[in-house]
Amino acid sequence: MTDRVAVLAGWGADAPDRIVTNSELENSLDTTDAWITSRTGIHERRWADPGTSTGDMAVRAGRMAMRRAGVTRVDRVVLATTTPDHTCPATAPWVAHQLGLGTVPAYDVAAVCSGFLYALAGAREAVLAGSADTVLVIGADRFTSIVDPADRSTAVIFGDGAGAVVIRAGTPGEAGTLGDVVLGADGSQSDHIMVRAGGARQPLAPSTPHGDRYFAMRGPEVFSAAVSRMANAAATALDRSGWTTKECDWLVAHQANWRILAAVGRAIGIDEDRVVCDLDRFGNTSAASIPMALAHHAAGFRTGDRLVLAAFGGGTTWGATTLTWPEQTGRPPAATDRTEVLPKLTR
Ligand code: UT7
Repeated sequence: MTDRVAVLAGWGADAPDRIVTNSELENSLDTTDAWITSRTGIHERRWADPGTSTGDMAVRAGRMAMRRAGVTRVDRVVLATTTPDHTCPATAPWVAHQLGLGTVPAYDVAAVCSGFLYALAGAREAVLAGSADTVLVIGADRFTSIVDPADRSTAVIFGDGAGAVVIRAGTPGEAGTLGDVVLGADGSQSDHIMVRAGGARQPLAPSTPHGDRYFAMRGPEVFSAAVSRMANAAATALDRSGWTTKECDWLVAHQANWRILAAVGRAIGIDEDRVVCDLDRFGNTSAASIPMALAHHAAGFRTGDRLVLAAFGGGTTWGATTLTWPEQTGRPPAATDRTEVLPKLTR
């Protein structure tokens, strides 16, 4: 099926209403707004209320993406998440059910902050192979369910949210076409980002040490690996699409830290004003961060704009791909949609 390409058809995002500012965190943690802002670029993040799960946010983002794409059916649902609603079963089948999608195949992908690009790679391959014509790809994480609220090294960084896209079969040359998805993993660094207990290797027990119950990250090591892996993957993805960095309009990378985003941009030759950023408002939302950033900044992209997407996360894992921005077809968001439209990007 070489005459098929995979095309972005719709997008959406959902985030909890509750805004947690840096100043609020100063009250409960040994931290300051100045430290968080200067070290990460984050000013505020969203935290889900106790009744809101990853699946709930995924359903809302998925519904928006389908509406934007103008579809009521898709052939499969892929949900990237590290915080599924339950250890067993996967959350995607429940999400598909909530979306009224009948018995379509639905499964979760676990690649932490790279999860959305891993899920997108599978969706694109399914479309190219002809085994699906439309795929709903969602990245959703309720990271506050695994972050220790008393750990200042992680609690200030992560937020909750969901983003989604619909991918459909298209014809070569169409605006919206996704390029090759470059993926990689290095399991020798699996302990750099980890929730130590609660899995098969170390089941939860009353004696489980407090720190082992929560998400832990070796920040500085992850920082430098994130920069080099995302820069290399993005450069490879650009190369495979035959684009120079000058021809590329936007870098949309995993929203972990503004210093990381700026460094990736510098490494591949993309100026800061072309680096898409919403982490100042939403923090690091793990698998949700790329589709959320796309949805939040959709109004600032023009049809045909060239985007390079890149992510790095636990595993460790990484990925990158290219995308031309599609025509804004489909239906506009409903009044009830909660996707925030951030100020228009300028170049
Ligand atoms: O999403 C998956 C991928 N994740 C990432 O890409 C995250 C990558 N890492 C990072 O973004 C950064 O490493 C962090 C933001 C996590 C940390 O920033 P850093 O500049 O690497 O700080 P650090 O961990 O080297 O810590 C520097 C200092 C330490 O104090 P001492 O030992 O120098 O006295 C920390 O204890 O900052 C201290 N610190 C804090 N101080 C105030 C750590 N967290 C905080 C805090 N407030 N919240």
